[in-house]
Amino acid sequence: MNDYINIALPKGRLGEKVYTLLESIGYGCPEMLDGGRKLIFENPENKVRYFWAKPSDVAIYVERGAADIGVVGKDILLEYSPDIYELCDLGFGKCKMAVAGKKGTRIPTDKTIRVATKFSNIAWNYYSKQSRDIDIIKLNGSIEIAPLLDLSDVIVDIVETGATLRENGLVVFETICDISARLVANKAAYKFKSDSINKLLDSTIKFIAENAK
Ligand code: PRP
Repeated sequence: MNDYINIALPKGRLGEKVYTLLESIGYGCPEMLDGGRKLIFENPENKVRYFWAKPSDVAIYVERGAADIGVVGKDILLEYSPDIYELCDLGFGKCKMAVAGKKGTRIPTDKTIRVATKFSNIAWNYYSKQSRDIDIIKLNGSIEIAPLLDLSDVIVDIVETGATLRENGLVVFETICDISARLVANKAAYKFKSDSINKLLDSTIKFIAENAK
C-alpha cells in the first residue's frame, strides 16, 4: 500500500475539476464520480487512493501525512502557513482576497479599523505592513453582514464573482492578493515517493500548459 499516492481533494466543484484533470493524465479512479456519501476511493491499477475532505481541512491531512498530496486554496496556505510543499499553481478556483466595505463609506484613517473576517492572519499581516491598528472580529461565514450591521468598518474576505458584495451593497476598497488552487505535498512523502509524486506533478504541469494555450 506504500506505493500508492494518497490524494486529498476538496469536496465540491473545485475538487471535481481537479479530479477530472488527474483522471485525464492517468490517475483515474472510476468509482469517484458515482455520487453517494463514500469519502475514500482507491484504484489498484493506477495505485491511487483519493479522499474527499472539507476544503479547509485538506492542508491538515497533507501536513500530518494522512495524504501525500492535496489541493488547497492559496487563502488557506496564507492563513495557516502549514508546513508543506507548494508544488504548483493549478490555475483553478481563481478569486481575490480583498478589503471591502459599505458603498459610500471608506476605510477609517483616524481610528482603529474594525475588521470582520475568517482570515485573521491575512488581515493582521496586511494591516501590520501598513502600521495600522486593527480590531479583528473573527467570524465563520456570511462575513458580508458585519459592515451592514455596523459590527465592523470593513471585511477581509474572498471575492470571486463579486455577486455577494454587490447584492449586499458592498464594494471592494483594496485587493490584498490573488488566490487560486495549489497542488501541495507532505514533506516526508515528497522525499520518499519523489518519483511517483514528480511524475504526477510533471504531467499536471504539462496538462495545465497545454490547456492554457
Ligand atoms: C465565499 C466568500 C464570499 C463569497 C464570494 O463565501 O466568503 O462570501 O464566497 O463569492 P462571490 O464573489 O462569487 O459572491 P462562501 O460561499 O464560502 O460562504 P461563507 O459566507 O459561509 O463563507
